[in-house]
Amino acid sequence: MTTQEKITKLDEIAEEIKSFKGLDIAKNCTRPVPGEGNLDAQIMFIGEGPGFNEDMQGRPFVGQAGKLLEKTLLESLNLKRTDVYITNIIKYRPPDNRDPFPDEIEACRDWLDRQIAVIKPGIIVTLGRFSMAKFIPDVSISRVHGQSRFVEFGGVRYIIFPMYHPAAALRSGTVMDGFIRDFNKLKSLLHQEVAVPDILPPVTKAAQTSFF
Ligand code: URA
Repeated sequence: MTTQEKITKLDEIAEEIKSFKGLDIAKNCTRPVPGEGNLDAQIMFIGEGPGFNEDMQGRPFVGQAGKLLEKTLLESLNLKRTDVYITNIIKYRPPDNRDPFPDEIEACRDWLDRQIAVIKPGIIVTLGRFSMAKFIPDVSISRVHGQSRFVEFGGVRYIIFPMYHPAAALRSGTVMDGFIRDFNKLKSLLHQEVAVPDILPPVTKAAQTSFF
């Protein structure tokens, strides 16, 4: 896909998200938050849903959780926000930052799937359990965080790297330790991936293989 095609497709998705009124959270939010970042990102971060600051600005991860994400990106991976792509499972802020409802996740699913298909990152980092469950269902985040695995999604094999949500890390020192450790693991994974760019050939049959 050319850069122009990527821009066009992502703009189309963003326009659909902005004009959609089929959910209460879509009708009641200040601004929808489609996602943003590098069109050729090697890493895509998928969070849960917009919070207060994101809802105000229409941009993902711009509050405290976003500051932690940026700091760890810079410190451990030597990457800037503009090097990666950042989006969420749901595109509208739920009231009081409650967990997303299944119908909200379902209503936003196709947009996220299409964003993934446009960016086609080597590595998808899931932040929190809702994002993890999209690719790795029926597991506990406390057991699998920091363990990458191949997951076939939309006919393409991605490396999925589940992490705790940065907001959870801000609430607990133990989770924060795990969060930082996982970022350091992500660093080695990224270096491996950069060294072998063609590590992810499309596969045809469902595969969910542990990478480590
Ligand atoms: N938390 C999320 O999951 N996403 C954001 O964009 C901000 C906070």
